[in-house]
Amino acid sequence: ATRALSSRLYSSAAINRLTVIGGGQMGSGIAQVAATSKHDVTLVDVNQEALDRGKGYISKSLKRVAKKKFADDAKAQSEFVEQVMSRIRTTTNPAEGVAQADLVVEAIVENIKVKQDLFASLAKAAPEGSILASNTSSLPIKAIATPLTAEQKARFIGLHFFNPVPQMKLVEVVRTEEASQEAVDNAVAFVKAIGKSPAVCKDTPGFIVNRLLLPYMMESIRLLERDVASAKDIDTAMKLGAGYPMGPFELLDYVGLDTVKFIVDGWYTEGEGLKGDKQFVSSGKLNELVKNGHLGVKTGRGFYDYSK
Ligand code: NAI
Repeated sequence: ATRALSSRLYSSAAINRLTVIGGGQMGSGIAQVAATSKHDVTLVDVNQEALDRGKGYISKSLKRVAKKKFADDAKAQSEFVEQVMSRIRTTTNPAEGVAQADLVVEAIVENIKVKQDLFASLAKAAPEGSILASNTSSLPIKAIATPLTAEQKARFIGLHFFNPVPQMKLVEVVRTEEASQEAVDNAVAFVKAIGKSPAVCKDTPGFIVNRLLLPYMMESIRLLERDVASAKDIDTAMKLGAGYPMGPFELLDYVGLDTVKFIVDGWYTEGEGLKGDKQFVSSGKLNELVKNGHLGVKTGRGFYDYSK
C-alpha cells in the first residue's frame, strides 16, 4: 500500500527544483534554460572559481537572449537577466545542493568511475522519489548506475542535451531496463516544460543522434582519405544536396576531433554490439590531426584553418 501511495504521489510530482552538477559548457546551459523557464536551479561545481565561470557563461548568454527579446529597452534587458540569474543559486557542496531537488542532472567530466562515485553519494543525499539523470554522451547509463540500489535505479535515466544547450531543441531521454515509466514520463514532462523536444530511446551506444552521426562523420573522413573530393566540396554537397545545416567537416571541427576520436575508439574497443565494427575504426587522418593538437574550432585548426 505504501508503495502504491508513494508511486501515486511520485507520478503526480511536477519537477520544480533542478540541481545541476558541473557548471561547464553543458551544465551552465542546462541551468540557464531551466531558470529561464522559471525553475529553481542549484548549480554545483568543485570550487568557487568553476561556479563563477559557470555563472559568467550564463549571464553572457542571457544578455544575448535579452538583446533579441527586448531590442531597444536596456532596462527590460537587465531586469530579465537579473530575474533569471536570481533563480540560480550555487554551492560547492553536492550533498547540500541536491537536498531539495526534484531532479538532479549530472554534467561533469566524461569518466565512468568519477560519475559512479558521484551518484553513489548523491543518491543518498537527494530526496526519495527525485529523478537522477546523467548528461553523458558516450557512457552506458546502466554502467553509471552500477553502485545504486534497485529503487534508485528505477529513477535513474539519461537526459542528453546538445551543445549549445540554449539553441539546440532536442533532449534525448534515455531509459534503462530498470527505469520506471513514471521516471521517464516525468523527465519527458520536464523537457517539454523547459521548451525542448524529447526523444525517448533505449540505453544503447550513441543513443539516436550520435549513433547515426558518427558513422556518417567517419565515412566522410574516409571519402576525403580516398581522395574522392575535398572537405569543402563534401561539405557543400551535403549542405546543398542533403539539406544539412552544416557539412560533416564543419560539424567535426565544431564538435572537436578529440571528442570524436574518444567516442569511436571507445565503441570500437568495448561498445555494446559495436565492438570491432569497422565503421568505428579511427582513421589515419583523424589520428594525425588529434596527435598534432588540431582539434577543430577550439584550437583554431582541424580539417579547416580558423586562425585567419
Ligand atoms: P566541461 O569540462 O565544460 O564541464 C565540466 C564541469 O564539471 C567543470 O566545470 C568541472 O569543474 C565540473 N566537475 C568535474 N568534476 C566534478 C565533480 N566531481 N563534481 C562537480 N563538478 C565537477 O564539460 P562539458 O562539455 O560541459 O561536458 C559535461 C558532460 O556533458 C560530459 O559527460 C559530456 O559527455 C556531456 N556532454 C557534452 C556535450 C558537449 O558537446 N560538450 C554534449 C552532450 C553531452
